Amino acid sequence: MVKPKIAPSMLSSDFANLASEAERMIRCGADWLHMDIMTFIQRMGSHFVPNLTIGAPVIESLRKHTKAYLDCHLMVTNPLDYVEPLGKAGASGFTFHVEVSKDNWRELVQKIKSNGMKPGVSLRPGTPIEEVYPLLDDENPVEMVLVMTVEPGFGGQKFMPEMMDKVLALRKKYPSLDIEVDGGLGPSTIDLAAAAGANCIVAGSSVFGAPDPAHVISLMRTSVEN
Ligand code: DX5
Ligand code: ZN
Repeated sequence: MVKPKIAPSMLSSDFANLASEAERMIRCGADWLHMDIMTFIQRMGSHFVPNLTIGAPVIESLRKHTKAYLDCHLMVTNPLDYVEPLGKAGASGFTFHVEVSKDNWRELVQKIKSNGMKPGVSLRPGTPIEEVYPLLDDENPVEMVLVMTVEPGFGGQKFMPEMMDKVLALRKKYPSLDIEVDGGLGPSTIDLAAAAGANCIVAGSSVFGAPDPAHVISLMRTSVEN
């Protein structure tokens, strides 16, 4: 059985108090801290998401205050540029999007590993699951798949249950893989995700918006365990 990892998305935290928010989440029972890295740079006529969040300097500052696993989700068009800076800053996991890495994913995975991080690949709701199979079947594979359950860019959106077909297909093919879901997860959607086979659960607004975040985290862990 794959271990549950509950990862509050720090995108919903108070950025002005990031260190204490991180500490609070760990105290509430979080396994990982999910860090959403987005750039809003017009590059080759497009940007990956219409938002701008944090980067390596913030990860570096946070690392001084916590030993927690920092699960970085790169919503950028040029993830390769961020591997070394994030490795040096103390990131633990580096998950890039398959849509922007068609030509260089082998180089990316190799570089992520040599910079001491765990490589993961993510896909947007419109991207078929088959696109990540080559990255899992390679001799130097990614070690996690992040299935987006909302369009990436913002917290607080509605969970897309139809994405569970992707999770089911992945779990069937890769019984011990870390499968992460991200977007709209909380007490009312966790059972669907857990039943499909997801074990790494990102949750932003449902955790930070709850009067008792520890309760929400423990409820999600129980759902994954059962
Ligand atoms: C969206 C981000 C998510 C987001 C999730 O692009 O990848 O990690 O913070 O937030 P909730 O849980 O509120 O949907
Ligand atoms: Zn995310």
